Amino acid sequence: LNAEEYERRARQLVPAAVWDYIAGGSGAERTLAANELAFDRYQLRPRVLVDISHRSIATELFGATLAAPIGVAPTAYHRLVHPEGEVATARGAGLAGVFHVVSIFASRSLEEIAAATDAPLWLQLYWLRRREVLARLAGRAADAGYRALVLTVDTPVLGERLRDVRNGFALDPSIRAVNLDVELTETVHRKQEAASALAIHAGETFDTAITWADLAWLRTVSSLPLLVKGILTAEDARLAVEHGVDGIVVSNHGGRQLDGAVTTLDALPEVVAAAGGRCPVLVDGGIRSGTDVFVALALGADAVLVGRPVLWALACGGDAEVANLLGMLTRGLDHTMALAGRPTLASIDSSAVRR
Ligand SMILES: Cc1cc2nc3c(=O)[nH]c(=O)nc-3n(C[C@H](O)[C@H](O)[C@H](O)COP(=O)(O)O)c2cc1C
Repeated sequence: LNAEEYERRARQLVPAAVWDYIAGGSGAERTLAANELAFDRYQLRPRVLVDISHRSIATELFGATLAAPIGVAPTAYHRLVHPEGEVATARGAGLAGVFHVVSIFASRSLEEIAAATDAPLWLQLYWLRRREVLARLAGRAADAGYRALVLTVDTPVLGERLRDVRNGFALDPSIRAVNLDVELTETVHRKQEAASALAIHAGETFDTAITWADLAWLRTVSSLPLLVKGILTAEDARLAVEHGVDGIVVSNHGGRQLDGAVTTLDALPEVVAAAGGRCPVLVDGGIRSGTDVFVALALGADAVLVGRPVLWALACGGDAEVANLLGMLTRGLDHTMALAGRPTLASIDSSAVRR
């Protein structure tokens, strides 16, 4: 009936080290905890005697019509929790009428995922040192009908995820980032004492030298809309807009990168103000219910992404449970709109909440 139930059930189903990989954050996990708590600081200001008999939560994003302003956040290696992996996730998103941002570290091929669903798909990229790999992925995504690229910019190096370090976490060789060449993924499978193979892998493959100026290169290899994910300040939102991005995702990577970073809900208003309506602003981190979606929209988000809850639902039963989770969020948003007297997305403004 809610995300928490999926969380409890998934925890019983998933191996302990995989659970730690999914649940964990970086450092002392302060930002991880703060993301969810941030929602508790907001209360709704319901309006009454409003005609809510016709409500509409469908929306358009990059040319696709969505049942709700909700998408699946990019998360790596879905086959860790379900044999069908991203294929099941994408099918679930399609059933719920929302979009799916496929991770560069997906454990099913971009083409298999696209063939399985009519959900709008976007591809998330980390900037690898081997640029030609990015160019190839962007080309494959466009050919397979993906509608946008999402460059994650909060991960020049991997956050210190102590749970993974403690577990010496490495990926079983049966679960691979299949969209990348084998030689680019080897280290992620090499188990080491008191070290995260994922962090070592990122250290070997990610380009730590890129700056705003490099976005222009990505533009030369793809004409898909380009979003940047991991913006937390007005300064960077302005730079993003100046560099012509098509969308911004306010994100702290679910508390997995810079521990102590501002919560996404707190960063959202300044980013929205700085973007000034020049591109859509999305947000992720700690969104667990339709009410949470409502609060994010009231603070100016055009849409939200949901990370861990999708993995919990996937672990519990594949596409049907993913569809159920996303449907619950959609219905929860609709229900909140009805009781708050805000029947349209446009009517959910900052007066709908108080801090
Ligand atoms: C297990 C896991 C794997 C993730 N993998 C990626 C990834 O490959 N690329 C990326 O941009 N973000 C990744 N993220 C971050 C999510 O896209 C998203 O920002 C975050 O999960 C949102 O917070 P939430 O889990 O509280 O909803 C990952 C998050 C988790 C929990």
